[in-house]
Amino acid sequence: MAEKLGGVFSFPGTGLTVNRVGFGAMQLTGPHIFGPPKDREECVRVVRRAVEEGVNHIDTGDFYGPHYANWILQEALHPYRDDLVIATKVGAYRGGQGEWVQDHSREVLEGSVHDNLRNLKRDVLQVVNVRGLGLAEADPNFDIRPSVEVIAELQHKGLVQHIGVSNVNAAQVAAAQSVAPIVCVQNMYNVAHRADDALIEDLSRQGIAYVPFFPLGGFSPLQSDKLNAIAASLEATPLLVAQAWLLQRSPNLLLISGTSKVAHLEENLKAGALYLPPAAVETLDSIAAQDGPTA
Ligand SMILES: NC(=O)c1ccc[n+]([C@@H]2O[C@H](COP(=O)([O-])OP(=O)(O)OC[C@H]3O[C@@H](n4cnc5c(N)ncnc54)[C@H](OP(=O)(O)O)[C@@H]3O)[C@@H](O)[C@H]2O)c1
Repeated sequence: MAEKLGGVFSFPGTGLTVNRVGFGAMQLTGPHIFGPPKDREECVRVVRRAVEEGVNHIDTGDFYGPHYANWILQEALHPYRDDLVIATKVGAYRGGQGEWVQDHSREVLEGSVHDNLRNLKRDVLQVVNVRGLGLAEADPNFDIRPSVEVIAELQHKGLVQHIGVSNVNAAQVAAAQSVAPIVCVQNMYNVAHRADDALIEDLSRQGIAYVPFFPLGGFSPLQSDKLNAIAASLEATPLLVAQAWLLQRSPNLLLISGTSKVAHLEENLKAGALYLPPAAVETLDSIAAQDGPTA
């Protein structure tokens, strides 16, 4: 099972080991990640099928919906298998119209931890990512240390096991590490958006997981003639090739592609078994280098 799902990765200093092909829960919600999903039963089936097929790393956030993604995970999977790792995020909440409000006040950070505990129905959160500011690029002026300190306090109280960071640059990862051990970093990265290449190498040397969000391009699915050509030559789909490329990119890279459809999930789970020969990797590497993000 592990080989089929890209092999395993152990979060440093945690005792938590996961298959590298995981699942992202953000798509288990309504349009613009707000409200309930169109087909809740299908979303429940997606999550159950993922775990049946060996997925044991799920990324979520109580601000997805808000609450709906976590409620669906709970409905589909509670009581949770012992080997299932659910990672969540804090540092923002949703306003009444669905707007994203970045907020790193103690009140919001602590409240988010409790929201995740309640809506996932867990006594402790295994991994909490402290989200920085910025999406495609981290805001370099944001000091992440006070937020990590708040979560580290909750760690000492036993509500949080391990801490990660998200939407951060290398300096912010180091700043977070000055407060507490960091087990994973979650940033935007895919075959066409490779700003984090150096960071991935550095984290790999430290044994820290790199978890790319928007692995398939997120709201704008990846489109590239080169991706299409490689996919055709391997009798795979372009998005499957994009996921296989990520898995081959670095052994510390964990996939959390998101979908609300069982058919798409089943396709995505094949990424771990798709080997890309060196010539294909070379062509795929040239997408970001030559054509930029919209290649
Ligand atoms: N830290 C952060 O700031 C942050 C930001 C964004 C996301 N995330 C995390 O990263 C995870 C992954 O990102 P994401 O879900 O936004 O983007 P993604 O995985 O790059 O792409 C998801 C999109 O691709 C579609 N899709 C998935 N599999 C497909 C397939 N096999 N064929 C065709 N279309 C397919 C999905 O639609 P269907 O539902 O129709 O399949 C959805 O529209 C999220 O679930 C979330 O956990 C974190």
